[in-house]
Amino acid sequence: MLDSEDMKILAIETSCDETAVSVVEAKGDTEHLQFEVLSHLISSQIALHTKWGGVVPSLAKREHARNLLPLLLESLYESGLVNPKQKKIRDNLTIQEAAEVRRILEREPELLDLFLQHIPAIKPPEVDIIVVTQGPGLEPALWVGINLAKALSFVWKIPVIPVNHMEGHILSVMATLDKKQPKINNIKFPVLSLLISGGHTELVLSKDWLNYQVIGQTRDDAVGEAFDKVARILGLPYPGGPEISRLADLASGHPPEKLPRPMLNSNDFDFSFSGLKTAVLYLVKKLSPLSQINRVEIAREFQQAVIDVLITKTGRAIQKYHPHTLVIGGGVVANKDLREKFGEVIKEHFPTVRLLVPDLSLSTDNATMIALAGYLRVQAAEGQVPTNDFAAHGTLPLS
Ligand code: KG4
Ligand code: ZN
Repeated sequence: MLDSEDMKILAIETSCDETAVSVVEAKGDTEHLQFEVLSHLISSQIALHTKWGGVVPSLAKREHARNLLPLLLESLYESGLVNPKQKKIRDNLTIQEAAEVRRILEREPELLDLFLQHIPAIKPPEVDIIVVTQGPGLEPALWVGINLAKALSFVWKIPVIPVNHMEGHILSVMATLDKKQPKINNIKFPVLSLLISGGHTELVLSKDWLNYQVIGQTRDDAVGEAFDKVARILGLPYPGGPEISRLADLASGHPPEKLPRPMLNSNDFDFSFSGLKTAVLYLVKKLSPLSQINRVEIAREFQQAVIDVLITKTGRAIQKYHPHTLVIGGGVVANKDLREKFGEVIKEHFPTVRLLVPDLSLSTDNATMIALAGYLRVQAAEGQVPTNDFAAHGTLPLS
């Protein structure tokens, strides 16, 4: 890959229930990457969605539209790209410019008002590219970030690079928030990635940078979704992953019944978690009213069943494809037991494979991983910044 110049990147992520903005400075190719995070902000909507037991897309869209611009301003101030005291440097938008901004943000009236109030009042920052999550995710939520990126691109004349959210999760393992050497600098291919989030469960094989082949995926629920649904069955709040993990820590390991390990012996790399969720439902009905001891033991047994399936399938994929590197990305990798078990199994059975998991702060949705994906896309375009014609950029072959 070509070297590209020092680049300042503004990244926006609104695919689900976290509004996230990062400003990152990057330089060099994948062998000598220097990557400094100047601002990494996340505004979580979890407290709001908890009341409804899961993410409500229309509420997610409304919250993104409310929070995104304040978060953007904070990020620009924090990174030093905009001086908060230096107001009214540029003129107001022309009538034509304002009309175009209104057109771009017509479906986000609250964001439009905030945009017209604040953006013309600040000096355009010295940003080289705006990177935004294009999908997959909740469509109404994604559009808020995409439309803000388009409006900023129009007013500041900065190109937009749309990127795939799952690619962000893969690359999240290669970034750090501190100034330590990023792990990206000595990645050996093939790379096998296990992606486990609220919306996805995939095994992805990469023979080179930005090359992705999905070799297996869930046929029904994603792992994170299963955690969230089982938590609800157990009477635990949303999001279920952290709650189940917390309860599982208290368990003795003697469940009232063993739970199934779905598709453990199938001859492919696909997964299925809805039967496991149904098994929990039947067990909870049978044991009703559920005692706290049983709740705790079922939480642990469910978590263990998920980990067993993920480890077995990933192990088989390692035996078949002989990757040098195993990446685990997506919100569920925040699970402590899962991290530990993968660490033990790789050390014992596949000692030549290098296991990479993201720092906890980069495990769940964030914009720093999106910034890194955008930077590598620009690098792959051989230093050329792609044009800002949004529709011209295809999505990755990741689902
Ligand atoms: O990647 P992410 O932040 O959002 C999506 O792209 O979906 O993943 C969110 C998912 C949720 O389902 C949540 O329950 C799960 O990650 N999660 C966990 C843990 N922390 C978050 N699952 C298991 N254990 C955890 N500690
Ligand atoms: Zn995610």
